[in-house]
Amino acid sequence: AKKAFIFDLDGVIVDTAKYHFLAWQKLANQLGIEFTHEHNEGLKGVSRVRSLDIILELGNVQGSQEDKNKWLVQKNEEYLSYLVDMDESEILPGVLKVLEYLKSKNQFIALGSASKNARPILEKTNIMHFFDAIVDGNDVSNAKPDPEVFLRAAQLVGVSNENAIVFEDSVAGIQAANIANMISVGIGNASVLYEAKYNFKDFTFIDEAFLSQLIG
Ligand code: BG6
Ligand code: MG
Repeated sequence: AKKAFIFDLDGVIVDTAKYHFLAWQKLANQLGIEFTHEHNEGLKGVSRVRSLDIILELGNVQGSQEDKNKWLVQKNEEYLSYLVDMDESEILPGVLKVLEYLKSKNQFIALGSASKNARPILEKTNIMHFFDAIVDGNDVSNAKPDPEVFLRAAQLVGVSNENAIVFEDSVAGIQAANIANMISVGIGNASVLYEAKYNFKDFTFIDEAFLSQLIG
């Protein structure tokens, strides 16, 4: 049977995790909150609204709903300013090779991202055509580690959970994949993503032998 290979976007396909960090850090500092790379690990894969709440809690800062809406818009505008000139060069090393290999083996490829900016990023980087299904932050109501985003992606391509493989750079995303009974592949630091079934520093370490073993 065909498998479903589900990719997270930010920090897996494209190097946007650094831009999310910079945009959150700018807002946090403006609110007098210290925000480090370590704090940021807990925000990876987490929705925009939840991320703001976590930052405010961190600094013990309260805000009205109006304030929060304003801060969310501000963060997103700052984030989008980094994406203006985005093109294929932002695709992380090894990703295209893996996408091309999976396509050549006639496997399903899906996106499972918390971001509401996912589609324009796939367009700017010219990789939209690889995807059989796209589920992003506009489609789901429950954020990772809730598995909703991955369950919907597998459903859209008609593959059972056990036949789905998830590539993730976030703790929340690995947990979501595990909860869904999918095969979790961590991309990044193994000591952070220790809950993943497999872990690779980046896609250049994923070879055809590994992928064909997953295809079965
Ligand atoms: C996730 C990122 O993919 O999407 C988070 O890891 C981000 O850092 C979240 O906050 C929501 O993204 P966006 O683009 O809708 O603000
Ligand atoms: Mg990510």
